[in-house]
Amino acid sequence: MAHYQYWLGAKVIKGPMKDNVMAELVQHATDEMRHADLVSNRIIQLGGEPLLSPEEWYKHTNCGYDPPADAYVRVLLEQNIKGEQCAIDVYQALAQKTREADPVTYEMAIQILNDEVEHEEDLQGLLEDLDLMVQRH
Ligand SMILES: [Fe+2]
Ligand SMILES: [Fe+2]
Repeated sequence: MAHYQYWLGAKVIKGPMKDNVMAELVQHATDEMRHADLVSNRIIQLGGEPLLSPEEWYKHTNCGYDPPADAYVRVLLEQNIKGEQCAIDVYQALAQKTREADPVTYEMAIQILNDEVEHEEDLQGLLEDLDLMVQRH
């Protein structure tokens, strides 16, 4: 869902600095797909079964999906910052839960957590630049 939110957002984005923001969204979309890859591989290793149908995504999502209905840069940045803050909480909780009992999942959670923290920082930086630019004009 995070992958799709970024991937589609990068296509429909409108407004000042859209090329810069678009490039970042595309990169995040790639990272989010890699997270899905890591998580589903780990689920299979543990003998589980990843969700088989997109219909199930809504039932099990931690951070939901914000459709890019308003494609203005600032709105998309805010939506994705919210998503990253949620993801940070989710992976932090997963890391805490697995620290002792499951070091492999713990490592994975920390690795993804690092990406999400970086994502959030990147988006906050773009939001700051956007606001400065709009103010100065
Ligand atoms: Fe992610
Ligand atoms: Fe992320």
